[in-house]
Amino acid sequence: MSGTKRRIVVTAALPYANGDIHIGHLVEYLQTDFWVRFQKMRGHACLYICADDTHGTPVMIRARSEGIAPEELIARSHAQHVKDFADFQIAFDSYYSTNAPENRAFCYEIFAAMEKSGAITTQRLPQLYCEKDAMFLPDRFVKGVCPKCGAAGQYGDACDVCGQTYAAEELKDARCVTCGEPPVMRESEHLFFELEPFRDFLQAWIPKHTAPDVANKLLEWFSEPLRGWCISRDAPYFGFEIPGRPGKFFYVWVDAPIGYMASLKKWCDGRGQNFDDWWTNPEAELYHFIGKDIVRFHCLFWPAMLHVAGVKPPDQVFVHGFLTVNGEKMSKSKGTFVKARTYLDHLNPQDLRFYYACKLNGTTDDLDLNLEDFVNRVNSDLVGKITNLASRGAQMLHKRLGGRMGVMDAEGRALWEAARDRAETVAGHYESRDFSKVMVEVRALADAANQYFDTKAPWALVKTDAEAARQVMTSVLNIFRVLAIYLQPILPVYAERVARLFNEAEYCWADAMKAIEDADINPYEYLATRVEMAKVEEMVEAGKL
Ligand code: 2FM
Ligand code: ZN
Repeated sequence: MSGTKRRIVVTAALPYANGDIHIGHLVEYLQTDFWVRFQKMRGHACLYICADDTHGTPVMIRARSEGIAPEELIARSHAQHVKDFADFQIAFDSYYSTNAPENRAFCYEIFAAMEKSGAITTQRLPQLYCEKDAMFLPDRFVKGVCPKCGAAGQYGDACDVCGQTYAAEELKDARCVTCGEPPVMRESEHLFFELEPFRDFLQAWIPKHTAPDVANKLLEWFSEPLRGWCISRDAPYFGFEIPGRPGKFFYVWVDAPIGYMASLKKWCDGRGQNFDDWWTNPEAELYHFIGKDIVRFHCLFWPAMLHVAGVKPPDQVFVHGFLTVNGEKMSKSKGTFVKARTYLDHLNPQDLRFYYACKLNGTTDDLDLNLEDFVNRVNSDLVGKITNLASRGAQMLHKRLGGRMGVMDAEGRALWEAARDRAETVAGHYESRDFSKVMVEVRALADAANQYFDTKAPWALVKTDAEAARQVMTSVLNIFRVLAIYLQPILPVYAERVARLFNEAEYCWADAMKAIEDADINPYEYLATRVEMAKVEEMVEAGKL
């Protein structure tokens, strides 16, 4: 591996505080976790930063409907989110909240720079207003008849039936979602962040810092003048009031990405680290993992905000696709809109980590969780191919040969060397987030080891030549150990148990170079078990409730 130690900040998008974590979210939090754990194994200083996205109308309304303060609601979600992530073996270095003093301070600082640059303008806008609730209504808080196709029960921004978009005031027979009253039009002054002054900067920045398909899509907008972004919302709003603009609040999407900074700051302050070493330092790297629905925020507004604030924008924005289940959009009625907690109540988190890794290839393609394929892959590959090497090898070594490893035979050593020599290739797949290729490598190596094991038939050999059998098991266990090291970013708990088997500490990447010979192994601990389709079905049933 290269000798220079990198300093890397990695973020995953901040989940909204008004909702539960579900298996769609996990596509992102898991792949980011794989990548960060890999960087750490390579010896880099790498931080996984996240937080709850707490502000906005939905949180305010939900708290109101539950009769609690928004602060209480977001504290409750924070605790739930933290627990869900921990149970999925997702290891954030900092998991904070956007409703925090550090975030407010950074918002003020960046907004001051935006104002100073002259890119903040004001405009009076008419908007739907509910007199009963005394509030302006965001698009998702009005429902009515689609002005294009006449379908009833459509939101204020787009029609689910005909797929067309429109302005909220075009909606016919509009009603406030919370109270059912028809809204009125009311004017209010709003703040805009103009993007046109950043045209040249963005046009040059975008293609260098995101994948070609993402960049091409974004650049389509540059054929026309870039529209300003409305960054204010009227009271009542749960968020930060804009300095010098009483009654106006920052739109949630302003303080959400700034929340990455706040969460990093919180981490630094707790450890006597200097924030600027990680953030403004030109040597430090910054990567955002996001879904394709929020590209606009991360590749237009956010880089422009950082640019005016004099900070280097992200080095790369990694965009992934959506999750489908059995080839379809996740659906509540079909039970495929599975909450993280529901999954955990029925299945092993490690299996989903394994499966997602098999399917993630670092592109914006959607990822399909096919439930039958999930069961097959876990059972045939993780359990049947990979784990079997250890369970057969270690158990037999204990039962018949006192749990002591000897040396590898020539054939076994050649296989082990071949496995070891894939280290940089596997590392390259991790670096480019092509986890599916990591899995292809691991599977191929496991196949070769299984073939060797079966040909040598140590269970028979042990009766005639115990030392030869010990050599076979020593080889198989060494190959398995290399595979476990390669899998550690994806299966950290699994790898931890493997390390314990060999009396070792948590692995770093270079540990793959080492062989274990003439050493005692510890008792074999369970690593992975078969998953039953019946359990998956139970989970889907529970998801329907
Ligand atoms: O789309 C979402 O779920 C947002 N809560 C993501 C925010 S990411 C960031 F910018 F904070
Ligand atoms: Zn209302």
